Amino acid sequence: MSTLTALELLRQRASIREFTNTPVPDHMLETVLLAASRAPTSFNFQPYAFVEIRDPQNRAELADIAGGQTYIHSAPVLLIICADLARVRRWCGFEPRTDPIMDPDLLIACVTDAALAGMCASLAAESLGLGTVMVGGIRNNPPRVAELLGLPQGVLPIFGICLGFPAERPRARPRLDSALCIHVDRYDAQLAMTAAEYETHWLRSPDGEAPSVSDVESWRDQLARGAKRANRLAPDLAKRHEQTADGSGHAVHVETMSLIGNLISTSLRGR
Ligand SMILES: Cc1cc2nc3c(=O)[nH]c(=O)nc-3n(C[C@H](O)[C@H](O)[C@H](O)COP(=O)(O)O)c2cc1C
Repeated sequence: MSTLTALELLRQRASIREFTNTPVPDHMLETVLLAASRAPTSFNFQPYAFVEIRDPQNRAELADIAGGQTYIHSAPVLLIICADLARVRRWCGFEPRTDPIMDPDLLIACVTDAALAGMCASLAAESLGLGTVMVGGIRNNPPRVAELLGLPQGVLPIFGICLGFPAERPRARPRLDSALCIHVDRYDAQLAMTAAEYETHWLRSPDGEAPSVSDVESWRDQLARGAKRANRLAPDLAKRHEQTADGSGHAVHVETMSLIGNLISTSLRGR
């Protein structure tokens, strides 16, 4: 087992998208999943489910749904991390009219917990010498993913994690200078830089190096792809956002979360 400390691991880590064919031993996967279950979780609900996808046909279709990301197909292990609101509903005895999926705060809590567990799984895997990449692309078509995985209503696919022994060693990718993200007492709007300012002043490798031209280009490309994907679950959300805007912004965001909750549950119900 690697002797890297958590801090060293975090400093060095990078998403891995090329894997060797060596299978991941069962005991390693068990260790990874056990580590995931040690993540903190609201009310100790543990509202998540990990689905390991072994069926090659399902793998191929998931890769397709995620926009042709080949490593989904080729990684030795693929886990789909789901937020399991159905379990919370069962355990807490919610009545049907108080569907927890319609509760934006509960939705945030369950998705957060699922993400934290996924991150613990990923870090545990990396500490064992495995490589990982998370795959949000599976949310391009949640109803179809739910169908492929047999997810009941209230179990929402959040992201995938590809796992395997790395066949590449990318260097740690640059991040925002931490000064841009850290506020004291109150949010400092002065720190809200444009992407162009970020490119010239703030993009840094973990060692404080300025970014290379290709770093900047790939970041620009990621932003452009991210912008295109915004609202992929609810194309009309921006319009509703405009209509409900009350000036403060907060109510609009709660409305947005609620809409997303409704939308996901409706799309899962409608399958
Ligand atoms: C929730 C989540 C979803 C992601 N989805 C994808 C994805 O669909 N495809 C992909 O290649 N990388 C995906 N990534 C990986 C990011 O692109 C990557 O973390 C980011 O570019 C920073 O690079 P690094 O992890 O090497 O530091 C995802 C990461 C997260 C946290």
